[in-house]
Amino acid sequence: MPATREVWRIARAGSLGRLRRETEPVGEPGPGEARVRVEAIGLNFADVFACLGLYSATPAGPFVPGLECAGVVEAAGPPRPGGAPAPAIGERVMALTRFGGYASRLTVDARLLRPLPDGWSFAEGAAWPVQALTAWWALFRLGELAPGELVLVHSAAGGVGLQALGLVDAAGARAIATVGRPEKRDLLVAGGLAPERVIVRDRRRFAAQLDGAIAAAGADGLDLVLDAVLGPFFRPAFDRLRPEGRHVVFGAADFMTHGTRPDPLRLALRWLRRPRVDPLAMISENRALLAFNLIWLWSEADRLPAAFAELERLGGLARPPHVGARLPFARAPEALRLLQSGETTGKVVLEVGKG
Ligand SMILES: NC(=O)c1ccc[n+]([C@@H]2O[C@H](COP(=O)([O-])OP(=O)(O)OC[C@H]3O[C@@H](n4cnc5c(N)ncnc54)[C@H](OP(=O)(O)O)[C@@H]3O)[C@@H](O)[C@H]2O)c1
Repeated sequence: MPATREVWRIARAGSLGRLRRETEPVGEPGPGEARVRVEAIGLNFADVFACLGLYSATPAGPFVPGLECAGVVEAAGPPRPGGAPAPAIGERVMALTRFGGYASRLTVDARLLRPLPDGWSFAEGAAWPVQALTAWWALFRLGELAPGELVLVHSAAGGVGLQALGLVDAAGARAIATVGRPEKRDLLVAGGLAPERVIVRDRRRFAAQLDGAIAAAGADGLDLVLDAVLGPFFRPAFDRLRPEGRHVVFGAADFMTHGTRPDPLRLALRWLRRPRVDPLAMISENRALLAFNLIWLWSEADRLPAAFAELERLGGLARPPHVGARLPFARAPEALRLLQSGETTGKVVLEVGKG
């Protein structure tokens, strides 16, 4: 009997309400591929944007969302000529995938697998690759973070944010954190961040809030900003960059809407008010603006081992990531709405075979 799998598929991007659970056959892995029995799936904010049709990398037709998971290798094709040996059957792995992750079984390019660290649960493994790579790329590949520098980390209690705080600490730099809700402040303070360095963002007072936190850090400005929020929070941070400061943009959470479908009026208003910068002023002020989307890296699989090795060297695997919510696979739409709400901390994970 051919193996089957369960997936969550959306017929067409545009509404979270279109997600449907389906059962289908799953094929044997080809050369250089492995099939993973998925135990846990990591949710990303990008999954919500993809389902709403607000993510440019989203496939045009029906698609299965999901960029990462963890599980056990249950079948492997022959290695590619000159390629790495096939993974061992039974190996516990973390996997990256360019969409297709909301599945109970998954066939992937074996180069996108990485062994699950000893002692980590599958949920922790599913919570790590995308957010750790994102934080590393922003802080070090583009941000060139140096010891002693002051970094603003937005959404610091979230998946990428917590990874970033750990790496900032390991690099001997200092962070000012922002969160959207007062409850999230406690998590960060319990994690060792001084209360005066945690800002509960206020759209109208953000500049003053930032001045207070920078002064409390004994600094005269920011060296680096990690910004996946934009909206009214971009300008005050950009304006407080010290000479040689870097502002790294990798998301636009302020565009998120809260229904199952996008709200066109709200989106249009936010689009019209989106931040703009003057490149000429950037020269004289000696500030840099950088941006990235990591999704293309999944197609550059040969570059991933070096990226992971560098991330590990910088302390990225020092401790397992914080999983803030675990829901059974059957409740994927609810898990997405939870992530969309902005209320979550750490990673939201779906667990296969539970519930
Ligand atoms: N470019 C890339 O390659 C890349 C890769 C991964 C992630 N990202 C981006 O990085 C950010 C973090 O991703 P994540 O997966 O780790 O998610 P997350 O931070 O765990 O969750 C998203 C957070 O966004 C914040 N937020 C701000 N405005 C919001 C709004 N209007 N509605 C809902 N939430 C809002 C909320 O935290 P607070 O309210 O506490 O700020 C929310 O918890 C996202 O913007 C994502 O798109 C980019």
